[in-house]
Amino acid sequence: CGIVGIVSHSPVAPLIVDALKRLEYRGYDSAGVATIEHGALARRRAEGKLVNLENRLKAEPLDGTIGIGHTRWATHGVPNETNAHPHFSDGVAIVHNGIIENFAELRTELERDGYTFSSQTDTEVVAHLISRELKSGATPVEAAHNTLKRLQGAFALAIMFKGDEDMIVGARNGPPLAVGHGEGEMFLGSDAIALAPFTNSITYLEDGDWAVVRHNNIAIFDMDGNKVERKRQKSIGTAYLVDKGNHRHFMEKEIHEQPEVISHTLAHYLDFTKSAAKPLDLPFDFARIERLAISACGTAYLAGLIGKYWFERYARLPVDIDIASEFRYREMPLSANDAALFISQSGETADTLASLRYCRSQGMTIGAVVNTRESTIAREADVTLPLLAGPEIGVASTKAFTCQLSVMASLAVRAAVARGTVSAEEEKALVRALSETPRYANQVLKTLDGQIETLARDLAHYRHVLYLGRDTSYPLALEGALKLKEISYIHAEGYAAGELKHGPIALIDENMPVIVIAPHDRIFEKTVSNMQEVAARGGKIILITDAKGAAQSTVKTMRTIVLPDMPEIITPIVYALPIQMLAYFTAVFMGTDVDQPRNLAKSVTVE
Ligand code: G6P
Repeated sequence: CGIVGIVSHSPVAPLIVDALKRLEYRGYDSAGVATIEHGALARRRAEGKLVNLENRLKAEPLDGTIGIGHTRWATHGVPNETNAHPHFSDGVAIVHNGIIENFAELRTELERDGYTFSSQTDTEVVAHLISRELKSGATPVEAAHNTLKRLQGAFALAIMFKGDEDMIVGARNGPPLAVGHGEGEMFLGSDAIALAPFTNSITYLEDGDWAVVRHNNIAIFDMDGNKVERKRQKSIGTAYLVDKGNHRHFMEKEIHEQPEVISHTLAHYLDFTKSAAKPLDLPFDFARIERLAISACGTAYLAGLIGKYWFERYARLPVDIDIASEFRYREMPLSANDAALFISQSGETADTLASLRYCRSQGMTIGAVVNTRESTIAREADVTLPLLAGPEIGVASTKAFTCQLSVMASLAVRAAVARGTVSAEEEKALVRALSETPRYANQVLKTLDGQIETLARDLAHYRHVLYLGRDTSYPLALEGALKLKEISYIHAEGYAAGELKHGPIALIDENMPVIVIAPHDRIFEKTVSNMQEVAARGGKIILITDAKGAAQSTVKTMRTIVLPDMPEIITPIVYALPIQMLAYFTAVFMGTDVDQPRNLAKSVTVE
C-alpha cells in the first residue's frame, strides 16, 4: 500500500491524490483521503482505481489544509469502500501499510472494552487503540507512542488528530516511510517519488522510528521516545509522471525501451572499446569467495536463477539461490566469508529485504541489484549494483528483468576474470557478444511484432499453456508462464523440458499448447526429443528458436517463431522479448487491464 501525508496552509486533497498516483504501483484496489474540515475529520474513499476516488472528490470536495491519503493492496478484508483507508476512531484518522500481526488479540481486547469495528482490517485496531489512549488522558503524541509500542508486525503509519491542524504522526517498522521538508509545509510519503513534486529534501525514517510532522518542523524519535537525528538528503526522484508516449500501455512502451536500457546497463559494467569487464569497486573479492548466495521474488528471482547458470558456467562459482520468502526462514548454512546478492526492481520487497537482513546477521557481504537507488534494499547493502532501466510502471516486469539479466551476465564475466576461469580471449568474446544484445533485441522487436500478435490471437482461446526449456531457457520458461498468467489470467506453467516426462506429460492434449524455448545450443537435440514426446501425444507445439534450430528441428509445430542466430550468453536476454510480447498481445486480446492486472501490486512490502 502507499501512504501520503501533507501539513500545509492550502487545500491538500488534490496534492494527496497527485502523490497517490505516483504510489499506485503499491496497490490499486481501493483508495482514500482524509482531511480536517473546520476542526472535524472528513474522508472520501472509493473502491477500485484512483480515478474513482478522484471522481468522488469532484462530487464532494475536501478543503482541509492537512490530510492523509492511501492506496491499498488488500491483506485483511476484501477490497471495498468500508475496508478502504483512512480508518477513523473517535477523533483519530489513520492510514497504514503492512500487517499488524497481533491484531486479533488486540481486537478482542478492544471489543471487550466496548469498541465496535466497522471494517475487517487489521488497521482499525490501531485507530481504536489510539483513541482509547486519548480517552484515558494521554496527549495525541503520547497516545500514538503508547500505541506503537503495542504493535507487532511490519507496518508504516500516518496518524492525524481531530482539532489539530498542525500535526501528523508517522511511524515506520518495516515498509518504508520518508518525511519531506518544505517551506512552512511538510510531507510524509512511502517513497521519494511520491513527494518529488513537493520537495526533494527527504529524510528516511529507520525501523522503529516515529516522527511528529508540523508546518515548521519535524521531530523524529525512537521507540523509547528519545529524539534521534536522521540524515536529510537530496532526493533524485523524478518530478514528472512518466507517460505512455505513443503506446497503448506502459508495458508495451517498456518492452520497446529494452534495447536502449539494456545498452545503458551493459555500458555501466562493461568497457566496449576494450571488450573487457570494467573493474568494480566491490566490498568482496570474487576470487576469494567460495559461494555466492542470491535471493529475490517473482521475476527478479528468475533473473537470479539465470544468473546462477552464468556464475557457475563461466566463473565456476557455486550459487545458492532461493525465492526470498523461503530463503528468509530456511536457516541455510551461510559463511561470513561469502557474498550475497539481492535482486529487486523496487528495492522494497519485504521478503527480499528480510533475506538480506538474515545474510547480514550471518556476517556476509551484501550486494543489491536494484532499479531504485534510494530504496531500503539499496541503503542496507554494502554495494549497490544499479539496473539503469528507468522507472518501470507496468506491474508485469519487462525491462527491469532484461536489465537484471544484463547485470547478472556482466557480473558473471567480471567474476570469471577475477577467478581466472576465462582467458583474455574468452573475456573479449563474451563482452563482444553482450555488446550485441541491444542490436538483436531491436531486431526482434522490429521483425517479430506481427507474427507474435497473430500467435497471441490463437493463444487467447486456450485456458492452459505449458512452457518448456532447458538450461537458461528453463528459468525463461518459468518467466514466460509467469508473465502470461499475471496479465492474461490464462493458467500457465513453466517446466524444465527434461522433467516433462515426470508429470506434466499427463496433461498433454490438443487443448494445451506447449511453448518450447529452444535456441540452437549444446543441448538443442535433447529438447527436440522432448518435443517429439509432446507431438507423439497429440500436443500442439509452438517453437521459439533461431534459424539453425528451425532448420534442424524435425518436429511438426503449430507455429515456429524464428529469431536470428546469436551468441549463447545473450539468448536469455533476447528471448525474453518474444516471451513478453506474447503475454502482452494475448492480454490485449483478452481485454484485461494490462498495466494493473487484478490482485497484483508492483511493490509488495508485506510478507
Ligand atoms: C511483485 C511484482 C513482480 C516482481 C516482484 C518482485 O510481485 O508484481 O513483477 O517481480 O514483486 O519485485 P521487486 O521489486 O523486488 O523486483
